[in-house]
Amino acid sequence: MCGIVGVLGRHEAAPILVEALKRLEYRGYDSAGIATIHNGTLDRRRAVGKLVNLSDLLVHEPLPGKAGIGHTRWATHGAPTVTNAHPHRSGTVCVVHNGIIENFRELRDELAAKGLHPETETDTETVALLARSYLDQGLSPRDVAQQTLARLEGAYALVFLFEGDDDLLIAARKGSPLAIGYGEGEAFVGSDAIALAPMTDRITYLDEGDMAVVTRNSVEIRDAAGQLANRPIRKISIDTGQIDKRGHRHFMAKEIAEQPTVLADTLAHYLTDGQIALPGEGLDFREVTRISMVACGTASYACHVAKYWFEQIAGLPVDVDVASEFRYREPPLVAGTLGLFVSQSGETADTLAALRYCAGKTDKIVSVVNVPESSIARESDLVLPIHAGIEIGVASTKAFTCQLMTLVLVALAAGHQRGHLSDDALAARIEDLRGLPGLVHHALGIEADCARIARALAEARDILFLGRGRMFPLALEGALKLKEISYIHAEAYASGELKHGPIALVDKTVPVIVMAPHDELFDKTVSNMQEVMARGGKVLLITDAKGAEVAGDGTWDRIVMPQVSPLFAPLLYAIPAQLLAYHTAIAKGTDVDQPRNLAKSVTVE
Ligand code: G6P
Repeated sequence: MCGIVGVLGRHEAAPILVEALKRLEYRGYDSAGIATIHNGTLDRRRAVGKLVNLSDLLVHEPLPGKAGIGHTRWATHGAPTVTNAHPHRSGTVCVVHNGIIENFRELRDELAAKGLHPETETDTETVALLARSYLDQGLSPRDVAQQTLARLEGAYALVFLFEGDDDLLIAARKGSPLAIGYGEGEAFVGSDAIALAPMTDRITYLDEGDMAVVTRNSVEIRDAAGQLANRPIRKISIDTGQIDKRGHRHFMAKEIAEQPTVLADTLAHYLTDGQIALPGEGLDFREVTRISMVACGTASYACHVAKYWFEQIAGLPVDVDVASEFRYREPPLVAGTLGLFVSQSGETADTLAALRYCAGKTDKIVSVVNVPESSIARESDLVLPIHAGIEIGVASTKAFTCQLMTLVLVALAAGHQRGHLSDDALAARIEDLRGLPGLVHHALGIEADCARIARALAEARDILFLGRGRMFPLALEGALKLKEISYIHAEAYASGELKHGPIALVDKTVPVIVMAPHDELFDKTVSNMQEVMARGGKVLLITDAKGAEVAGDGTWDRIVMPQVSPLFAPLLYAIPAQLLAYHTAIAKGTDVDQPRNLAKSVTVE
């Protein structure tokens, strides 16, 4: 989603802004722009498409100046055109914005009545027009920003740049993340620590409702009530190498390959002397009567897998909701409910809104996140980091498996506390989990098979995924991954549900991918697979050696996975789901790391 950067530097700002925007590319965008101040004059350059187009434009029409703001735009209001690209300008003020100004129509009418007419279709331009209206009244930049913010409804991270003042940025945050970076006689603003990483390792995350007046040598932050606020400066240690493909063709390939290592890291973080240790005071699952899990996209499929684990291992009932539906459904939350929110970015607006709905209604709010400084983490009672490292590819891979690893450890701890797992049974499960990173490493050996099969999948118009039990959410994740990056229509069904409708779709042109380790439900899945084959369906069976033997002949193709404890199979079977999607996307020639229309972190509802 939109990325923001601001620079008050000692050197030319344009190259710094463009480099910082490149580090924000992973969030997803469809146009970009920068504005600078040179000799007191404000000017901007904007381009549609990839950043290279903006860089090309800057070669022909350079933008001098040591102060500036930049933006990557993921279109919400108005098509991705140069006119709609940020920074937006009115008179002597320029703004960049991430979020949605919900009352922009009302403001636009009010401003039009004063003769301030929009030139774009965006909500953001209204902010620039509003700021200009206050400037026209002779207000100072600080008062202009304050008055403007007071009129805005919705979500925003905003940075203002004022013509004539090349030592001033005003930044504000409500609903969308924003951080201030400190340099030596320099200051920076960015959507996240990744944007700022090479410029500084000292940053302050703005809190909800904060406004910061930033100059090269001072940062003054005021809270929503206008009071001076003392926000901590954190020393961040982002390994900028993590923002590098390290020899891989795509970030997604690198992140798939990293899974054995990061899964071992996750495990190591949660095991102390062979026992599962949750951070802080941990959780007492004997007091919990129900878990309400909420997430979006891939994270929601991690929740669906975890539902099987919590119910089977700990005897705890679990509800799983997609965040965008949760709060509007107004679910009653009974006493003893634990709210569990899963999000890679920790910034997904729908998930954050659901968390806020639960605040005060559930006994405790727990989040499973990859970014411990994120909004979701900061508004939780207990944060369980997944330790996946920075994930850049829009299609989530290593974050998904690390979410699963974290959640299964929590389920095991819950099962043990609630007396559903003996000490020995817990120790045996932990031992199985210790073997998992090695099995994942082994499973990556199926890549050549996946690449071969993907060449055929790339020809399909529709693809079905089937799974039963714990593998059903994996089928959902497999279909999502494929849709996201190859743009092929894919659907997933619980194997047993196929005959209740979707089987009508089956013919020889629709590959059916069956994810089925040889577990207690395998025979039933094989029956469903036979139903497909009897109708001329083309089955790709993903199973282990035993499953391959029992299933017999007749499938179109097979991928044979290492043997794994059935309970933990979802962690392993994520690998073929990821590799098939990846190689199908390669075969189709799509933009794997930044698929069309998608954003990595969706900070609008
Ligand atoms: C976006 C991304 C998905 C992701 C979802 C949830 O839609 O494109 O890949 O799964 O958001 O993101 P989160 O950061 O909350 O896990």
